[in-house]
Amino acid sequence: MRIGFFLILLSAMLLNAGAVKPSDYTQPEVCGGCHAEIYSQWNGSMHSMAHKDPVYQKLFIMASRETNSTFDAFCTKCHAPIDYLSGNIPSADNYKVSEISEKGISCDFCHTVNASSGIGNGAFISSPGKVKYGPFNDSSSMYHGTAYSELHTKAEFCGMCHDVKHPFNGLVLENTYTEWKEGPYNETTPCQHCHMTPGVTKFEANPGRAAAGAPMREHIYTHYFVGGNAMLPGLLGSPEHERLAKERLRLAAVVEILDIERINETVNLNVKVTNIGAGHKIPTGLTEAREIWLDVDVRDKAGNQIFRSGAMDAGGYIDHNAVIYHTVFGDSTGKVTEKVWFADRILLDNRIPPKGYSLENYSFTIPQGTNGPLRIDIKLNYVSASQELSDLLFGKGSVKPPVIEMASANATIEIPVPRKEMPGLEILFMPLIIFAAYVRIKRNRGRI
Ligand code: HEC
Ligand code: HEC
Ligand code: HEC
Ligand code: HEC
Ligand code: HEC
Repeated sequence: MRIGFFLILLSAMLLNAGAVKPSDYTQPEVCGGCHAEIYSQWNGSMHSMAHKDPVYQKLFIMASRETNSTFDAFCTKCHAPIDYLSGNIPSADNYKVSEISEKGISCDFCHTVNASSGIGNGAFISSPGKVKYGPFNDSSSMYHGTAYSELHTKAEFCGMCHDVKHPFNGLVLENTYTEWKEGPYNETTPCQHCHMTPGVTKFEANPGRAAAGAPMREHIYTHYFVGGNAMLPGLLGSPEHERLAKERLRLAAVVEILDIERINETVNLNVKVTNIGAGHKIPTGLTEAREIWLDVDVRDKAGNQIFRSGAMDAGGYIDHNAVIYHTVFGDSTGKVTEKVWFADRILLDNRIPPKGYSLENYSFTIPQGTNGPLRIDIKLNYVSASQELSDLLFGKGSVKPPVIEMASANATIEIPVPRKEMPGLEILFMPLIIFAAYVRIKRNRGRI
């Protein structure tokens, strides 16, 4: 009886271990034979580069070394899922994946997922084989079986990987699905509407055929999967994905100068940054690397700088006083770290929620004798990785992440500052101020 139970357990374990091999999955080029357009959209996407990506590889190898391989399987699960499922886990010392996993998250991985065990940390269940799961309930193909999968049409499909928690201490590392779920788009606009249609910020139909010889349909989902990353497609030769990422960043946010307050030579500038287009916070995903920041530049008539905040120097470093929207992780001693494996707490998260905004205030003094008018130029910029992270991964100064302008605003200030002719309000308040100071002195004395 006991032996029988043990045998069943053993055979179940063996079956599981050998259940999936990389060769059970079809190479994307084969699918591309009939699905040519979808293939060309996917090829060059961040999903196709999820393993090739040099930023990922550098960080993976660093994580593997610094944790004695305890993160190897974890990272591989989402970035090379077919090798994870096959039990082929690369490590810093033996950094190799199968040929199909070189191609990251490919057609046959996503279209053989037919269930999930929840949200986040790679909650997918994959059943490789003849049947391809997708959004149609009336589709047929001579090459493969087809089956309708509601999961593919929902944000929960993306949420299987686009929410990441630290595997040991549970700290939230990436939160895109949850940001969407808790935001204003959750009822009407799943990820697919913005990331798999030409609409970018909303659903927009893309009529066509899903495969050669297939019927004409009112809408075919596109497979560019473009986010904010223009750097990698740029580096790895996908100009179309690079262009689309820049376009997407420009549709995500607006910046406005709300008002300019002047009190004699002092200027107070109120600036508003609104997330108008993204279904989650901006930035989202790998937010300890991504930086969205405000560059505020004020110059006189001749172009001399009067005030600056958010300048990037020649080395690619952003001024320390700049307003930067991102996440800062701390390790268990509270020290800032860019290494997610050491992350233990969130020290700062000032990112802008979907349809939300952030208000910023700048203050500066106009020097005597300045020639006007003053010109204020504000830019909202994006980089995929801070220079500090890039230095850590590739060596100081060897890679400079490109800066993409998301939005801008400008205004002018007339000079000279018009002086008030009548006594200002401050004159009326003078007796009150003197009285308050007197009371304060008395109070302090009373304390001694
Ligand atoms: C649960 C799934 C999941 C796991 C586990 C995971 N990642 Fe990711 N990773 C993602 C997703 C989703 C993105 C895309 C987010 C974005 O682009 O901002 C991403 C993006 C990245 C990027 C950005 C690449 C670029 O070019 O900018 C790096 C680097 C990265 N991950 C490294 C790692 C490392 C190292 C590990 C293991 C410690 C890991 N990831 C574990 C899902 C995962
Ligand atoms: C010999 C041509 C051919 C090849 C090769 C091919 N497909 Fe298809 N596929 C089709 C046709 C035709 C349809 C039907 C399209 C329609 O109904 O509009 C289809 C439909 C689909 C659907 C939709 C299923 C649904 O019910 O929603 C998916 C998903 C799919 N294919 C994925 C794949 C994947 C993944 C591969 C590679 C492993 C692949 N296809 C290879 C011809 C092919
Ligand atoms: C990251 C996962 C993912 C990858 C990789 C992927 N797909 Fe899809 N695909 C989807 C999802 C999700 C849908 C359905 C979207 C919806 O209905 O909301 C879809 C839809 C489809 C459809 C149905 C027609 C349509 O576009 O509406 C076909 C056919 C298809 N994919 C083929 C492919 C092929 C071929 C590849 C590789 C070149 C591929 N897919 C790569 C997730 C993926
Ligand atoms: C198997 C896990 C997995 C699934 C499922 C998945 N993704 Fe991803 N996705 C990733 C990883 C990993 C990356 C990052 C690759 C890299 O940068 O190296 C990524 C990158 C992206 C990017 C590019 C981000 C950037 O910085 O430009 C977008 C957009 C995206 N995914 C959207 C989606 C959408 C929409 C879905 C659902 C239809 C989806 N993903 C499903 C794992 C997944
Ligand atoms: C209303 C449209 C909309 C919806 C819904 C939406 N996104 Fe996005 N997404 C955008 C825009 C616009 C950007 C570019 C701004 C940015 O990069 O932050 C973006 C960027 C991204 C990025 C790259 C982030 C970065 O800053 O590097 C990822 C990853 C992503 N989306 C995944 C998802 C996933 C997963 C979902 C669903 C849970 C989703 N998106 C829902 C519009 C949308």
